[in-house]
Amino acid sequence: MITVYDYPSAVMANNADIPMLLVGDSLGMVVQGNETTIPVTMEEMIYHTKMVVRGCGRAFVIADMPFFSYATLEEGIKNAVRLIQEGGAQALKIEGSLEILPLVNALTVRGIPVMAHIGLRPQSQLQMGLRIQGRDIESTQRLLEEAMAFEEAGAFGLLLECIPTEVAKIITQSVDIMTIGIGAGKYCSGQVQVWHDLLGFCSGKIPRHARRFADLAPIVTKALTDYAGEVKSGFFPTAAQSVAASPELMSALKQEMLAQDENA
Ligand code: KIV
Repeated sequence: MITVYDYPSAVMANNADIPMLLVGDSLGMVVQGNETTIPVTMEEMIYHTKMVVRGCGRAFVIADMPFFSYATLEEGIKNAVRLIQEGGAQALKIEGSLEILPLVNALTVRGIPVMAHIGLRPQSQLQMGLRIQGRDIESTQRLLEEAMAFEEAGAFGLLLECIPTEVAKIITQSVDIMTIGIGAGKYCSGQVQVWHDLLGFCSGKIPRHARRFADLAPIVTKALTDYAGEVKSGFFPTAAQSVAASPELMSALKQEMLAQDENA
């Protein structure tokens, strides 16, 4: 699984045979330039999900429920339906602990597939910080309890963010649903990474759990510098990128200019 936020990236991810695309609320940071995911709205999630769905091909599209869009059960159901009906997502990812069990159950019994996001939860960072979870026995037991409760409530998968490898392994072995890890080691059923981290579109340091499989920002910057330079120096556009006027138009223009000269 990879995060994608627009049509061309969905097309490329599908062409690379990546089976699941996540329209993550990480778009608040990597696309919008915010410090956190907290400012992302429902309208923005719907807008980006629509673009991804148009390019997803065979890939399965999961969209994130943004911050506070499920603060109550009623709001959660209403907004989940919007992401599915208006956005076109095939499933939803929801961050939370046991307090969102009623929502997960209400959605899954009515036919909306849900992936529950546990471990480090960026939407709760004001309260929890951005710390690795499952570092002690209490925290590990809570993660296991959450994992089993979400499976029981009908979730089809769990996203495990930033927890020790061995804890993710135990969770994966303890449930029958898929686990998708980010910073959770290699024993999960699958992995997810953020598009910009993986492809080198973020300037500066990337998270420890990420690896740059390409460094595209310098390549794009060079192409843009070359373009601007060629426009300034007159090397772009050339005849190949231009349309020449027809001989008929040229002679009509000449006559028009002559007539104007004579009238002046
Ligand atoms: O929003 C997001 O991109 C996420 C990541 C953890 C994959 O939830």
